[in-house]
Amino acid sequence: MNVAAGISVRTLKAADAGLYRAIMLRGYSEHPDAFTSTFEERATKPIDWWSRRLQDPTTATLGAFDSGDTLIGTVRLEQFQRARERHKINLAAMYVMRDFAGQGIGRKLMDEALIASRKLSGIEMMNLTVTSDNLAALRLYGKVGFQEFGREQRAVKGDTHYLDKLYMWRPISAEYVAPI
Ligand SMILES: CC(C)(COP(=O)(O)OP(=O)(O)OC[C@H]1O[C@@H](n2cnc3c(N)ncnc32)[C@H](O)[C@@H]1OP(=O)(O)O)[C@@H](O)C(=O)NCCC(=O)NCCS
Repeated sequence: MNVAAGISVRTLKAADAGLYRAIMLRGYSEHPDAFTSTFEERATKPIDWWSRRLQDPTTATLGAFDSGDTLIGTVRLEQFQRARERHKINLAAMYVMRDFAGQGIGRKLMDEALIASRKLSGIEMMNLTVTSDNLAALRLYGKVGFQEFGREQRAVKGDTHYLDKLYMWRPISAEYVAPI
């Protein structure tokens, strides 16, 4: 079932810090291999840390809300800061709560992230990294035109195993058609 039609997406503000903290802690604990940060690392951060994160002017954090105004998914955009890298934006911390996965919400967040990036002056490309065995995320990113350009082996060291990370990119232009 695709419920994304009833979902609204908006930029999270400092006042959303409690909601954002709660959803991300849930994400780290539900999917420890999908994120580089861990539940333990982030659970110790004070609420101010989360509100500063949402207020950082070089970033935008989008939230997907269901019809009852519950935050059920999120994604973050981080602009590169050095003068010669300002044509790029990084997409990070994509998460849809497990109960709502597979219903088009990740796709909606991605579409909104691309729309938001097009409104920023000078942004030409979006980059992201993804754990190499994260098939759901890889399918989503492939579907919206991201292409792999590299692999960092043993990028993340867990308690029992290493994880590789894939680097992906796409132009942010709405006219861009990914090669098949
Ligand atoms: C990856 C994730 C964001 C996808 O969000 P979602 O709302 O479930 O995705 P959607 O329903 O919008 O699906 C979009 C596409 O992704 C792919 N996809 C989503 N879930 C999938 C799954 N379990 N298996 C395979 N492909 C999947 C499909 O191609 C789908 O398109 P289709 O249904 O037309 O084939 C979500 O599953 C999630 O939060 N996972 C845990 C955290 C995570 O991995 N974050 C990414 C870190 S890089």
